[in-house]
Amino acid sequence: MEPVQRWWEHAVGYEIYIRSFADGTGDGIGDFPGMLDRLEHLAWLGVDIIWVTPFYASPMRDWGYDVADYTAIDPTYGSLDDFDAVVARAHELGMRVLIDIVPNHTSDQHQWFREALKGPDNPYRDHYIWRDAPADGSLPNNWVGYFGGPTWTLDEASGQYYLHLFLPEQPDLNWRNPAVLDAFDDILRFWLDRGVDGFRVDVAQAMVKDAELRSNPQIAPSDESMFRWDQWNAFEHRHDILQPESVDIFRRWNRIAEEYDALLLGETYDLVQMDKLDRLVSGGDAIHVGFWFGAMHMEWNAEQIRAAFDLPLTNISAGLGWAQDSHDEHRSVTRFGGGDLGRQRALSLTVLLMGLPGLPFLYQGQELGLESGVIPPEAKLDPVGDDDPNSGRDGTRTPIPWEPGPGMGFTDAASTWLPFGGRTDADTVLVQRELPSSSLHVHRELLAVRKGLGEIATEPLKWIADVAGDLVAFRRGAIAFVANVGDEPTELPVDGTVLFRSGDGSGATLAADEAAIVRIG
Ligand code: NOJ
Repeated sequence: MEPVQRWWEHAVGYEIYIRSFADGTGDGIGDFPGMLDRLEHLAWLGVDIIWVTPFYASPMRDWGYDVADYTAIDPTYGSLDDFDAVVARAHELGMRVLIDIVPNHTSDQHQWFREALKGPDNPYRDHYIWRDAPADGSLPNNWVGYFGGPTWTLDEASGQYYLHLFLPEQPDLNWRNPAVLDAFDDILRFWLDRGVDGFRVDVAQAMVKDAELRSNPQIAPSDESMFRWDQWNAFEHRHDILQPESVDIFRRWNRIAEEYDALLLGETYDLVQMDKLDRLVSGGDAIHVGFWFGAMHMEWNAEQIRAAFDLPLTNISAGLGWAQDSHDEHRSVTRFGGGDLGRQRALSLTVLLMGLPGLPFLYQGQELGLESGVIPPEAKLDPVGDDDPNSGRDGTRTPIPWEPGPGMGFTDAASTWLPFGGRTDADTVLVQRELPSSSLHVHRELLAVRKGLGEIATEPLKWIADVAGDLVAFRRGAIAFVANVGDEPTELPVDGTVLFRSGDGSGATLAADEAAIVRIG
């Protein structure tokens, strides 16, 4: 058996959505001082790597994913000293720190874009992507944005359109301009020199666009009234994302990262173009690990779960990251039915994710078994979504309940930036820490069991033959990961010692929705 080569190879990651993690300054918004005091919780849980969502100076149109200055901390979140303190404390506790870098676009308030708006001759104009307005009144091409609607906004002063795959306030950078590459080399080094252990690269799949900005082939009808992903899926994304030149950029970043033994973790968001994704991640000389998002887009159904693992595993030979929850999707407890049922299913999925080859991530609150918070329409803040309580991303972004009582240990303020969304005392870290059967303790035990299975790190996944129906079952060497996705109890498909179980089955019987880790033999 080959030893683990890199520090992330048998690790477990944890996403911190900074705005909702912990508020240390009493304004109802999470920040670095608050995070500092809560890092011990993550070390106790067994987390190896934290990923902190954007904290840079920002007008917050997309809650920090619109960066106005890549080397300044937004005052809402603290100072560079506060940041340094978090990195130092995390390291003391044995955890690595990834920060979220947002290279696809800047804020429209970034100095580069303010300059670019001064006109076509401005030296920063070419930091962004511009096209003349076609004479027939149409748009420069047919691309739709990730948030739905067209990707072009007219700059009336010059009569040119600029491109944005997200909000108009998030103009896309022109990664074909060497000055942009040079600028980001410096930004990466700025943070690496401050001690970060790597980057989660936002929108890694889309940074480079087709040189001629050709329209995408349309494969289904689309209009702006449709749900944003339906608009997106109406096109084959041949020219807007996953361009081959992006590999060159990540190779360049990889050389910088390697100087610091740092990790490049890509938000490689696509579920279709497997060969292009493979090129981005599996060489190990570009993005080290690319997230696969299939587990966020499936139902509680054995066939769908198998497919969500098998598709990337058969097409991407190395470097996969896994997550079932994030700040962008409804929490899996909610998606799988809510309440105790949803909790049981979400936990069983987590057991499987812990067995997949690659780097699994938890999202803050997942360890507590949280459902999405319920946000009344008037309290919604996400630029995406409408008044429907299920639309938009606010529900997954509500503040973490640390303790019972006003402010729930999250804040001393009378109100929070987003409401808690219906949390109870039983949801809190404090109450769950005192209850050995709590979701928190079960997740901690799961992480501890996995940590003890370093032997699987270099073992390929093998599906356990003859297992179909409601069982999802695979092995990594002598360790089997099995989930019963059906409504009836069933027998384990392997003999051996049960090292962990997520439900209340016993012996060789797996209860409905239960998962187990078994040492075969
Ligand atoms: C992906 C991030 O996870 C999401 O929150 C954000 O809105 C987009 N990228 C744009 O930066």
